Formats: sequence, C-alpha cells, structure tokens
Amino acid sequence: MGAHTDRSMAEGTVVLEDVTKRYRLGDGSWLTAIDCPNFVAESGSSTALVGPSGSGKSTLLHLVGAIDKPDRGRITVGGLDLTALNRRQLADYRSTIGFVFQQYHLLPAMSALDNVMAPLVGRKVSYDRKQRALELLTSVGLADRAHAVPSQMSGGQQQRVAIARALINNPRLLLADEPTGNLDATTAAGIIELLRGLQAERGMTMIVGTHDEAIAKRCDTVVPIEQGALDADPGRRLSSG
Ligand SMILES: Nc1ncnc2c1ncn2[C@@H]1O[C@H](COP(=O)(O)OP(=O)(O)O)[C@@H](O)[C@H]1O
Ligand SMILES: [Mg+2]
Repeated sequence: MGAHTDRSMAEGTVVLEDVTKRYRLGDGSWLTAIDCPNFVAESGSSTALVGPSGSGKSTLLHLVGAIDKPDRGRITVGGLDLTALNRRQLADYRSTIGFVFQQYHLLPAMSALDNVMAPLVGRKVSYDRKQRALELLTSVGLADRAHAVPSQMSGGQQQRVAIARALINNPRLLLADEPTGNLDATTAAGIIELLRGLQAERGMTMIVGTHDEAIAKRCDTVVPIEQGALDADPGRRLSSG
C-alpha cells in the first residue's frame, strides 16, 4: 500500500467517479437514475443526500452498498474499488457496511435480539454475538425489549432494532435510505439523534438518503440530488436557517 496517506484512502471515505446507472423502461427507452461525475463522502462524516421521490437516492445508496452495480464509472470505499470485486469479495464488502431501510425489514417471527444477530447467521465471529447484540440493543435504548417480536413494537422501536442490526458487524460505513420515512416527526427526530450519535461515537461514515429537511440539518454535509444528478460541491454545508 506504500505511501497512501491520500485522504481518499482513509478508511470509510466513499468516492464516486463518473458513475452512471440507467434502467431500461418498458417502452425500450432508457432512464438515467444516476449520473454522478464526482462525489466524495469523507471518512467519519455524515452526508445527507436530499431530493424528491424518484431523484435517485435509493439507487445511489444501492450502488455504494454494492446491492447494485453501476453501468460505468468507479466507486471506492476506503480505497477499495467496488467495481473491481468478484462476487465473493462483494459479499465480504457488504458484511463491512451497515444498511438501514425505510421499512425496517425485520424478520417478523424473530425477537429483537435474534433480528440484531441475524446478519451473523452462518458466519464465524470472534466475539460473543449475543453479548454484542444486547450491547447494541442497549445503545439504541431497547435493552428491555430484547425478547419482543416486531409486531409488539412501535415503528420507532422497530427502526431502532434495525439500526442495532446494521451495527452488528461494526461497520465503517452506514447507509440509511429514508430511515424516518414511516415515522411521525417526534419519533423521526429521536431516530435522527440516535443515528448521528452512533455515527459520531463510532467514527462511521454515514450517508442518509432523505427528503426530510430535519435530517439534512443534522448532517455535516448536504448533497442535493435531482433526476440522478448530484450537486456535490464538497464545501457545501447547510446553515441552520
Ligand atoms: N428497477 C428499476 N427499473 C426501472 N426504473 C427504476 C428502477 N429502480 C428505480 N428506477 C427509477 O430510477 C429513478 C430513481 O429511483 P430511486 O433511486 O428509487 O429514487 P428515490 O430513492 O430518490 O425515490 C426513478 O425514476 C425510478 O422510477
Ligand atoms: Mg428511495
């Protein structure tokens, strides 16, 4: 690795260069979901990707999370070029990041505790998985709900479980797609504070897709997105007004 003191090599820095993603529509035409000449999320920073429905937020998060592949361009995370990885390497990469969804995606028959441990099923780990899961449930304020199933929890509580689950692998990168989209304003505010607190405490890079200005205001950097185009002026910060 030599003299890679370059900031783009820092653990958790996300860089997109000339990335495009298109979808073929039913009528045979192409829709450009993402057209991103340049985007950087610095290691340990929080970025809000803000745009209306259909602007490409989920697509971008799926590309960075290696859930989907770009048609063109390069995506690197901590210097690792995602576009050069094979299937197995991609699976390894995915296990180093956390993903939080709007719809929580908890397994309904499982307790909160088992949901948090679910990403570890079939994997060897060097720590006590149950202990770590309990610690995470404690850190999201749900120590007393470890044995509840999702249907016994509120939306906000379910999202807290999903956040704990996203952290089970100690990710360096946390991606959140409309994490407060299903929640009332008060509950959403609690989730934002939780995400920001955990992100800062753990030094994670966080990218949040949202159309919620309250979330955007709590992030270090706001990157507007419109029709797949990111306005990624790296100096851009949202003032409190
Ligand atoms: N699988 C797909 N096939 C065709 N078009 C898609 C697909 N996924 C997303 N799109 C389109 O790509 C654009 C961006 O979608 P998306 O990333 O989901 O936006 P957002 O998350 O900001 O609402 C939209 O126009 C959407 O309709
Ligand atoms: Mg979306």
